[in-house]
Amino acid sequence: MGCKLNYTLPRRQALGSCFYSPRLQLVGVLTWFWPVDTAGAAKIAASQHNHWCSVPYGEVLEVDSGRVDNPPMSTSSHSPSRIVLGVTGGIAAYKAAELVRRLRARHAEVQVVMTEAACQFVTPLTFQALSGRAVRTSLWDAASEAAMGHIELARWADQVLIAPASADILARLASGRADDLLTTLCLATKAPVSVAPAMNHQMWAHPATQSNVNVLRARGVRVLGPASGDQACGEDGPGRMWEALDLAAALFPAVAAGPLTGKKVVISAGPTREPLDPVRFISNRSSGKMGFAVAAAARDAGAEVTLIAGPVTLCTPPGIQRVNVETAEQMYRAVHEAVVGAHVYIGAAAVADYQPAACAHQKMKKTSEHLELHLQRAPDILSSVAALEQPPFTVGFAAETNDVERYARDKLTRKRLDMIAANEVGVDRAFDRDDNALLVLWAGGRRELALQSKDQLAREFIAVVGERYQLTRHPVVTLVPQAS
Ligand SMILES: Cc1cc2nc3c(=O)[nH]c(=O)nc-3n(C[C@H](O)[C@H](O)[C@H](O)COP(=O)(O)O)c2cc1C
Repeated sequence: MGCKLNYTLPRRQALGSCFYSPRLQLVGVLTWFWPVDTAGAAKIAASQHNHWCSVPYGEVLEVDSGRVDNPPMSTSSHSPSRIVLGVTGGIAAYKAAELVRRLRARHAEVQVVMTEAACQFVTPLTFQALSGRAVRTSLWDAASEAAMGHIELARWADQVLIAPASADILARLASGRADDLLTTLCLATKAPVSVAPAMNHQMWAHPATQSNVNVLRARGVRVLGPASGDQACGEDGPGRMWEALDLAAALFPAVAAGPLTGKKVVISAGPTREPLDPVRFISNRSSGKMGFAVAAAARDAGAEVTLIAGPVTLCTPPGIQRVNVETAEQMYRAVHEAVVGAHVYIGAAAVADYQPAACAHQKMKKTSEHLELHLQRAPDILSSVAALEQPPFTVGFAAETNDVERYARDKLTRKRLDMIAANEVGVDRAFDRDDNALLVLWAGGRRELALQSKDQLAREFIAVVGERYQLTRHPVVTLVPQAS
């Protein structure tokens, strides 16, 4: 067997954003500095301030027909949640438009407060249309302040969320400044404050920013993110604002009962790496995308999720506890620790079947024409979990290049699993892709889940897991009265 080396090259995409602001007198192409979303591009025309920015954007904006007069800010009892959404000056300000929609979809009333800098990026008109409320931009608004508007806002809010939160606002909040409407109301409110930082990764890593964030955390401010990923400067790193959906989910944790509500679910995902020497390893092509999507879907179905992740470059879905491992042995130990008391275990990781019998302490030298590697079986995590005295509902994954159903059913029986999800792998199939299809099998049953995005597929798969879990672990017993 030959030596296999794996090099992971981060996918980099530089997306340009043109920007013109009469105030800053700046026309430029922002391809080098700020984190951007690579999903697509949409233009947000900012007619009110006669500037416009072309920003990356994944979805067409739906604009509510705008009722613009603010309803009175009664602080008496109310049913929907009231969110003050602070928007500060950063490229990610355009994502706050999507956030307003996500919050309103959860029946929240949203009052947007923009900093002066934020108005250079997105027009207040956009937020006004989406929120149905006139946007507040200044402490010096005579009409609002006649009734002490900033205090009224501070009292009205059930939660304050600042998204995106610039490095500047983090610094101003940490030092207790009250030099604009947003900082003033943050000091005046009793409502919980959350911030979603978004900035260049060097700015985020700067000790000043980190110290400000620590101060805020210590004061009880929730810091949501940032996420890691491609930055427009061509580098990878933490600094991207969390996606709108994740921020909305963080503010409104699922309360509706899902099929896995209250259940502890452990999921393993990604490849493992089996070291040959300090610089080489044997691995496989798993990206972890399917397992991570399954983890997010299980969370959305109400589960408390622990994700045991092999070496992947994916961000942890919010609300999930992640344990990083590298080798099959480490994954085995982490899974066995996590499954104690768990209801469901889903083994979606591509665990090595074989590992080098020994790992050289020093880099192996190129001395001979041929190299023989001595491999031994790696621990079988799935069967060991299924063989526990009180096993969780155990679900395996099977990646096959041929005879998918036959091999998968054999694995289901041999390893005594409750369920198995089989997928055909190969060139342009399953591995490191954003779509997939699954064949889900259990004793006496099967369900085909069609080719679709891994996120959507994961939701359908988790629905089947929830259904089968309920049926096998909590069967409904109907008592039929006996005829006398
Ligand atoms: C084109 C451009 C993009 C910027 N993007 C960011 C950003 O993503 N994150 C950030 O913290 N600051 C960014 N800044 C700097 C802030 O806009 C600046 O610090 C401002 O004072 C923030 O004010 P605010 O916190 O009151 O909104 C950017 C500045 C410019 C000119």
